[in-house]
Amino acid sequence: MRKKTIYDIPDLAGKKVFLTVDFNISLHDGKIANDTRIVEALPTIKYLLKKKAKIILASHLGRPHGVDLALSLKPVARRVGELLKCKVNLIDHFWDKKVVEKISKLKNDELTLLENIRFFPGEEENDRDFAKHLSTMADFFVNDAFGTAHRVHASIVGIAEFLPSFAGLLMDKEVKMISDAMEKPKRPFLLIIGGAKTPEKISVIERLLDIADTVALGGAIANTFLAAWGFGMGRSLVDYEMVEMARVVFWKTTRKHSALILPLDVVISDRDIKLRPKVVPYNKVPHNVVIYDIGPKTQKHYSELIKEAKTIIWNGPMGLYEDPRFTKGTDTILKSIAESKAHTIVGGGDTLTSIKQQKYLAKISHVSSGGSAMLSFLEKGTLPGIEVLLNAK
Ligand code: ADP
Ligand code: 3PG
Ligand code: MG
Repeated sequence: MRKKTIYDIPDLAGKKVFLTVDFNISLHDGKIANDTRIVEALPTIKYLLKKKAKIILASHLGRPHGVDLALSLKPVARRVGELLKCKVNLIDHFWDKKVVEKISKLKNDELTLLENIRFFPGEEENDRDFAKHLSTMADFFVNDAFGTAHRVHASIVGIAEFLPSFAGLLMDKEVKMISDAMEKPKRPFLLIIGGAKTPEKISVIERLLDIADTVALGGAIANTFLAAWGFGMGRSLVDYEMVEMARVVFWKTTRKHSALILPLDVVISDRDIKLRPKVVPYNKVPHNVVIYDIGPKTQKHYSELIKEAKTIIWNGPMGLYEDPRFTKGTDTILKSIAESKAHTIVGGGDTLTSIKQQKYLAKISHVSSGGSAMLSFLEKGTLPGIEVLLNAK
């Protein structure tokens, strides 16, 4: 089944659109550190404005418990206004029945942005009455929030029951780019996974062993897999509860034609990083040290795999990239991916934060706006926020 996009909405002039977006950007001292997620939603907003629709934007920011002014969308409203050169009305108490009337009186060329949608508990509970209340604000529901499409919340899933529902342009692009890579990947298909969220990522690895030719691991997740082989990891970050699961994944690998590749060498130091970083082979990690990055042999090996691959998906830094002494592994992977002619997809909160240079970003076929959403989509091939669009009236 095909989901409908905003291009399928017959007549938008004068109509009201409830547009859910993922404006969950990072704030540093109350200022927006990176506005990529806002910029990515602009094509949908611009299209709707061009068609003379009236837009009511909804997004969450962070994980508030009730109203928390530190997580207000005020800076976001300002930035959206600057980018689109229009007035943005930030509406608080959006759960109040009276605001619906207030919103309908706002001018057409002004944007309406609801205050952080998670300020009201009904959002995360996917409360039916709250979803219905949101739906009374508009004639259509459009979801452009790929980054939150894995959440079963009122402004993502519940509202679709009450309004004709459509995908925004970013949502459509994300789904297309990632599904294409998964359904008919050019081979060899290489998946590179790093980072620290082992429980969340291990099921993605297990699932993608069915599709990818090679899965290469780095970062803390690789430690857990090396520990599963019985190698001492010293005081490195290992998710011991996941070791058994890692063994199951190894067992699965032997039954497929795919390869699960682990680091050949690693960069170590002590817990406080006082000792000068040193490279050791994966099987010679002393008991009192911590692994902070992949070593040069591994970097070279992974770069060769990247060179040979025709489809590459990468999520998760190769080491503690926040410390400049341990960025080499992550930087090398990024540079190799940017130089590759393959179809390349990169996503993940920290993964994108680790990319400081725009020149590399520009060379990647698709940079996903989703972190956990991208991983969940890779694993399951769909997300709750996409399902409701597929089943929409
Ligand atoms: P993403 O957000 O891109 O999905 P994760 O959140 O899973 O990535 O992981 C990123 C975090 O993992 C970073 O804070 C990074 O410092 C940490 N990390 C990666 N490798 C190691 C390691 N060897 N030891 C400790 N932390 C690591
Ligand atoms: C993200 O940053 O991954 C999305 O905005 C979802 O945020 P959440 O994990 O708080 O639901
Ligand atoms: Mg992260």
